[in-house]
This record gives sequence, C-alpha cells and structure tokens, in this order.
Amino acid sequence: MIFVTDPQIRLESDQLSSIPLQTARIAARAAGEILKSYYHNGVQMRSKGGPDLVSDADLSAERCIVREIQSAFPTHTILGEEETSGNASAEHLWIVDPLDGTTNFAHHIPHFAVSIGYYHQGVAQCGVVWNPIREDWFEAVRGQGAYHNGVRMAVGSETRLSDVLIGIGFYYDRGAMMEATLMGVRDCFRQNIHGVRRFGTASLDLAHVALGYYGAYFEYQLSPWDFAAGRLLVEEAGGKVTTCHGLEVPLNQKTSVLASNSILHEAMLPVISPYAPSP
Ligand code: IPD
Ligand code: CA
Ligand code: CA
Repeated sequence: MIFVTDPQIRLESDQLSSIPLQTARIAARAAGEILKSYYHNGVQMRSKGGPDLVSDADLSAERCIVREIQSAFPTHTILGEEETSGNASAEHLWIVDPLDGTTNFAHHIPHFAVSIGYYHQGVAQCGVVWNPIREDWFEAVRGQGAYHNGVRMAVGSETRLSDVLIGIGFYYDRGAMMEATLMGVRDCFRQNIHGVRRFGTASLDLAHVALGYYGAYFEYQLSPWDFAAGRLLVEEAGGKVTTCHGLEVPLNQKTSVLASNSILHEAMLPVISPYAPSP
C-alpha cells in the first residue's frame, strides 16, 4: 500500500476490493506527481474568465488521468473539468478534477487535490482524493467505507449546530452568488454555529466532513468534478450529501451541495436553502 514502507503494518484500507479503485489510485498518484513538479518549479497561470484560473499543471494532470483510465477501461466515458467532455449520463462514467483548489495552487498554498470518481449508472462506486504535497490520501468504495491514509473515517456525532464548524465555498462569481453565500453564512452564524472555515478546495472540504472536522459543508454552485469523489467519502463515512434543497445531486449540471454528518442535515437545510439557486 502507498504510505507505509514496512510490510508488517497493515492498513484498514488494505481490505478494499474494487478494480476501478486500482486505476483511480494509479491515475491520482501519477497526476499528483505532475502537480507536485509544477508546484515546486512554477507554472504560468491563465484566466478562464475573471478569477477562475487554469495552467499547464491542470491540463497535463488531466491528460495523464485520462490516459490511465482509457488504457484500463477503453469503453468507459470520462468527464473532466478542463478538456474531457464525456456524457454525464453514460453507464460507466469517470469524473475528474485534475487540480481542485487551483487558486490555492496559484498562491502556493499546499491545499489542493486530485479528485477522481467512478460512477456506474449514476451511482458513485469509488473515489480518490489526493493532496500530493501534504500526502493526504482519501479513498472510498461503495459499501466498503472511506479511509484517510489507510485509516477508516467516520463523520462526527454532533447533534447541535452550536457544537460544529461549517465548511463553506464561494464560486468564482462576484455578484449574486457571492452575495447569496454571504447571506447563508450570516444565517449559519445566527444559529450560533461554532465557526466557519473556507479553505478553497471542495474535494478536501468534503473529506473534512468525512473526517468529522466539519459538522456540515455547503456551497451554492459546484460542478460534478468538484464533488464526484468527495461525496462518496462523506456517504461512506456515515454522512449525507444532497443539494442545498435536500435533493439528489445531479451530475449533468452545476448544483448546490450540502454535506453533513447526517444528523445535522435537517437543521442546516432551512438555514441555507432560502439563498440557494433554484433546484
Ligand atoms: C474550486 C474549488 C473551490 C470551490 C469552487 C471550485 P477549482 O475548484 O473546489 O473550493 O469553492 O467552487 O470551483 O476551480 O479549483 O478546480
Ligand atoms: Ca474543482
Ligand atoms: Ca480544477
């Protein structure tokens, strides 16, 4: 296994059995090496429009992941953020964010990740989220649990909003969506939450719910590649993921996302749904 050199040490995740997971692991590791190299050596960032950035790091990492998946599963469909526009309703679908947290990457903050999720008939089967700088490895297989560096994760058991931190995210919008998010955050504070965190990488925010760091996380506009893998981490750690209106998250369009330890889901929905975009 990946993090432990001593073969005597067995990780809880050693028991995971999933053929697509093996491919996701190989692809995420390889893409992580590419990101690490650009991160340490520098790369020119370009604007995709406003503050939304892209670079050769994003593109090279996506191409690498696509190559790995295609060589293992030539008939499967891939939907990637940058240049791989597979059909989201395909039976066998891989959803890829080669560099989640590009803004952090651009500012040399080591909080970003490769995110790869595999879906069969619209249902998440396995997912990997990998921060190659901090060496944080998250993975989950449907029905087999979610793991952080080989150790099984479980969401928190808090029952009151006043006891938890809420993770949030802002889309790149500088208008209505930003204002709406601020209103949602304000109303969370009015519920006397313990605090708000915004670290800037949706896949890792979801991992933080799975780890129990956050009681809940929400964002009013995410794309499927932002949450495809992270949502399975949360679900397999015992949490719940829906839109901010409590509906199933769609894979074929941008959507709001609420992830929680499950217990707090019902308490969060009335606080944040009034400002969320229509389902
Ligand atoms: C972004 C990050 C960020 C979230 C944005 C995403 P990117 O992804 O996940 O945390 O707030 O909505 O678009 O652009 O860095 O891949
Ligand atoms: Ca992203
Ligand atoms: Ca990205």
